[in-house]
Amino acid sequence: MTAIRATNLFIVCLCLTGKILSYELNDKRFPKDFLFGVATAAYQIEGAWNVDGKGETIWDTVCHRKPSPIANNDTGDTACDSYNKYKEDVALLKELGVDVYRFSISWARILPNGFDNKVNEAGVTHYKNVIKELLKNNIKPLVTLYHWDLPQVLQNAGGWENDFIIDAYLDFARICFKEFGNDVKYWITFNEPRVICQYGYGEGLFAPLIYSPGVGEYFCARNLLRAHSKAWHLYNDEFRKEQGGQVGITIDSYWYEPATDSPKDKEASEIKLQFSYGWFANPIINGDWPRQMKEKIDDRSKKQGFHKSRLPPFTEQDIEYMKGSTDFLGLNTYTSYMVKPMDNPDKDGMGPKYDSEVEEWQPDEWEGSASPWLKVTPWGTRKLLKWIKDAYNNTPILITENGYSDNGTLEDDRRINFYQGYLSNIRDAMEKDGVNVFGYTTWSFMDNFEWMMGYSQRFGLIHIDYDSPEKTRTKKKSAYWFKNMIKRRCVAEICKD
Ligand code: GAL
Repeated sequence: MTAIRATNLFIVCLCLTGKILSYELNDKRFPKDFLFGVATAAYQIEGAWNVDGKGETIWDTVCHRKPSPIANNDTGDTACDSYNKYKEDVALLKELGVDVYRFSISWARILPNGFDNKVNEAGVTHYKNVIKELLKNNIKPLVTLYHWDLPQVLQNAGGWENDFIIDAYLDFARICFKEFGNDVKYWITFNEPRVICQYGYGEGLFAPLIYSPGVGEYFCARNLLRAHSKAWHLYNDEFRKEQGGQVGITIDSYWYEPATDSPKDKEASEIKLQFSYGWFANPIINGDWPRQMKEKIDDRSKKQGFHKSRLPPFTEQDIEYMKGSTDFLGLNTYTSYMVKPMDNPDKDGMGPKYDSEVEEWQPDEWEGSASPWLKVTPWGTRKLLKWIKDAYNNTPILITENGYSDNGTLEDDRRINFYQGYLSNIRDAMEKDGVNVFGYTTWSFMDNFEWMMGYSQRFGLIHIDYDSPEKTRTKKKSAYWFKNMIKRRCVAEICKD
């Protein structure tokens, strides 16, 4: 890889099997009403896991297992203590100059039993206070309803694999719209359904650690999509007129770069995109699973001796109801993979990895981070944005996560380079490819509990001293860079209109 940097020019050239992927630093200002901000999630920052009436969640359960499956036996019990320190956090947000703050509501803080038979007033008051503090400082709240912390009681009844969950989620959503909706204009129903279903209920990698590949994740996905569309309709029918907000969903995807220009490799890229972003976006925009998923899973299920496809179908009613059930598409974008069709697909394998029959890898020469999966590929984000635009009729896109991990330094120049490269490519996608992106929140505002990796990987603009009782917050070099970028509203040192 070659990188050349001049005052206002940054060219990266990646030469892969004869391909050159390059970009020049974009120095155009983002539009005036573009929303810049930072993101977090309840379990990763709040702590206070058993305080003020909060119920237990599947992440409390997993973190309290003995022996612990989490790196260094870490837990989110205290995390960054943001439950108590939210005023200090909002003051920091104000210093950064963000337009918007993305955070999530812990379902079990509002409904300790998961169901709406008991509303925990202390939980409602807490989020009202956070929202009030944000608005007082001119920061718009962007609220995720579900960022992975399912109440344990609901998991005991089957969680996302059982369709009782749809109504339970809807009851939770209704309470949130009712209690907070006068002040919240941007809602996200789910964070990363692919990760919730594939890692949580298929491959058993994330809470609730259910191993049921090729079956569990597809049932989870159908329930989750039905819950999403019902929540969107609920808002549309009962709250939109009065509250005037928008409801979307955050879907994650890597970019899948074809290994060569051959039609087979290009098709492999399309299939992988359909098994990741398309898995959830296609039902929401067009009403049904992507064609490629249906074909592959139907065919493999048949050959494996199943009488029915392992991919459960939607009813005609679902299809009509789901079509167009979003105001925007959220995107979490971090990295890319190279792809080609598998040489010898495993006939018995089940789950998206096998069912797609596509091989993926990341070349060693791609710049890494503290997370083995996260290689720096800003050019991939531009391609992914263009793909989403073309696939889903230029639906407005909100980038809800994008960020870089290290092991902890205040002089985080690599994070600055990461943001500069990705934001430049996002600006290119808007300007040169006509993609309708209206906001961007980084992952993350502060270092936090990185799921199975505990506190070993840090994504924050703000450093947290986990050893200090105060969980001391310190701005990293990237926080200053981000603040200045928001002020200038472009990633170069000198901006053009
Ligand atoms: C996302 C997730 C975040 C954060 C990030 C970094 O998948 O939504 O909670 O952990 O990855 O790995």
